[in-house]
Amino acid sequence: MAQLNFKGKQFVQNHHLAVKYRELIPRPALSLVEGKDKRAGNVRLDDSLIIHGDNLVALKALLPTYAGKVKCIYIDPPYNTGNERWAYNDNVNSPMMQEWLGRVVDRDDLTRHDKWLCMMTPRLKLLRELLRDDGAIFISIDDNEQHHLRDLMDEVFGEENFITNFSIKANPRGRQSDENVATLHEYCLCYTRGIDEVILNGLPLTQENIDEYDQQDKDGKKWRELGLRQRGAASLREERPEMFFPIYVNSKNGIVSLEKTKDHTVEVFPRKSDGRDGRWMWGKKKVMDEINRIYGRKVSGRDEFDIFIKDYLNRNGEQKTAKPRSMWLDSEVNTELGGKLLKLILERKTIEYPKPLGLLKRIVEIATDKDSIILDSFAGSGTTAHAVLALNKEDGGNRKFILVEMEDYTDTITAERVRRVIRGVKTAKDENLKKGLGGTFSYFELGKPIEMESILSGKNLPSYNELARYVFYTATGEEFNEKKINEKKNFIGESKEYEVYLFYKPDLAYLKNTALTLDKAKELGKVKTKKRLVFAPTKYLDQEKLDGYRIVFAQLPFEIYKLAK
Ligand SMILES: C[S@@+](CC[C@H](N)C(=O)[O-])C[C@H]1O[C@@H](n2cnc3c(N)ncnc32)[C@H](O)[C@@H]1O
Repeated sequence: MAQLNFKGKQFVQNHHLAVKYRELIPRPALSLVEGKDKRAGNVRLDDSLIIHGDNLVALKALLPTYAGKVKCIYIDPPYNTGNERWAYNDNVNSPMMQEWLGRVVDRDDLTRHDKWLCMMTPRLKLLRELLRDDGAIFISIDDNEQHHLRDLMDEVFGEENFITNFSIKANPRGRQSDENVATLHEYCLCYTRGIDEVILNGLPLTQENIDEYDQQDKDGKKWRELGLRQRGAASLREERPEMFFPIYVNSKNGIVSLEKTKDHTVEVFPRKSDGRDGRWMWGKKKVMDEINRIYGRKVSGRDEFDIFIKDYLNRNGEQKTAKPRSMWLDSEVNTELGGKLLKLILERKTIEYPKPLGLLKRIVEIATDKDSIILDSFAGSGTTAHAVLALNKEDGGNRKFILVEMEDYTDTITAERVRRVIRGVKTAKDENLKKGLGGTFSYFELGKPIEMESILSGKNLPSYNELARYVFYTATGEEFNEKKINEKKNFIGESKEYEVYLFYKPDLAYLKNTALTLDKAKELGKVKTKKRLVFAPTKYLDQEKLDGYRIVFAQLPFEIYKLAK
């Protein structure tokens, strides 16, 4: 694979690993939770989330709970046009990178592509960690960085995991300010984490598609005619010899058979229009199974029979869907619509060029199931959350969104849009939006880094739950579920291998005076099949006793690094 090289690459390759875990601090007053109870307990990490903060840090903070759980990621990062006033601000430990910090990236910056790639690399690595194996990531981009992004995605996600690069007709009039050619499209680059696992959903047929089903059976079932001969790629006999065989037609009624009989006398082979041998789309077995919807008829202009399939509009009681196409040219994806809708919802002009709702709804529709989690870590005005809620309303789904936005407007624009669409927008034309799409979200800010060393000095001690999240995830690499915590029993959850216990209080006296003793080992309860991983400040038990109670002891704070994979 060709290598992508850029200034600073060696410093950012592993930067995502050095980013510290942080606490996520609930903001009940900014959340929209069920009922009137806005106490912190009702603001939950398993709700839909809006997180205010830099996405590099926020994505890291999400890992313990959401690694491998997100079905669809959509991001709309700065396109790096030279006009966006974004700045490279990651605190990477190198003088060259420090030199870059805080400076706005403009058109004259000769390192602007390097900075952009340095900014994107660790974020894409964390996003990949968060994605499910059968999940897909969609990235809006234009010609300023599309080519670099494609190479970077090949490196981070693997070139075999490329799904497509959608072309989106975003500006139908074409950008007249362009020098030579008026650009009217942009891209949405789509990759997965596991190409053998991902399956994108089909889309409902358009009226134009439905009109193609112009034939009808006596019972009213609509169908269209499709040729059985394979067209396009791999359509020659030698490419699939087993799919070259004769089909026999009854010339009176068009009924077909795989055997020559006294009624089925006309022999038809798959022949291309240039006379070469072609092949059927289906093998013999499939032709047998589907024989009732296969027929032969004379082709107009030629005195020869050909074989056709009845392609029904409804199959198994459901209307067919269409594979998403690689070009999205309809008016729903026109960028102008995004701005108009946002202005209608917020009743003022706010950020420029939010994405159109139609684009995000289509992405969520093709890439998620009804209970999927959708993440957008460059959230802007929160179009992604709006699309998730709109689709939930339409199909009764229970999808959840996670938005990350770093600007001060996270409350006043991002979250405010989501609040308004949940409650209803009176002036909206769309009936669902007018009534309100329903739903909830929990709002979080990023707290201080969890500094394990501070446990020794007793400064900035993390809460029980935060430390539990940290030690559980770093020691087991598995998802942490806060609901499993039973602080009284010092129990914080189970991994595949361990029951995990944590003896901890954010209190220096407790830390100095607490040890895993025989009594405490007994209190862990009966030994079951799993080993017990116990975090505590110290222990007064020898190895024999630990083995007897199947305990793997981990001292706070250093042992967790040893156990971390
Ligand atoms: C092009 S806008 C996204 C617009 C969005 N798709 C919409 O429909 O409204 C990019 C957003 O990413 C945010 N952003 C840029 N860098 C970020 C970072 N490091 N962490 C979090 N948000 C960031 C910007 O503040 C901006 O709101």
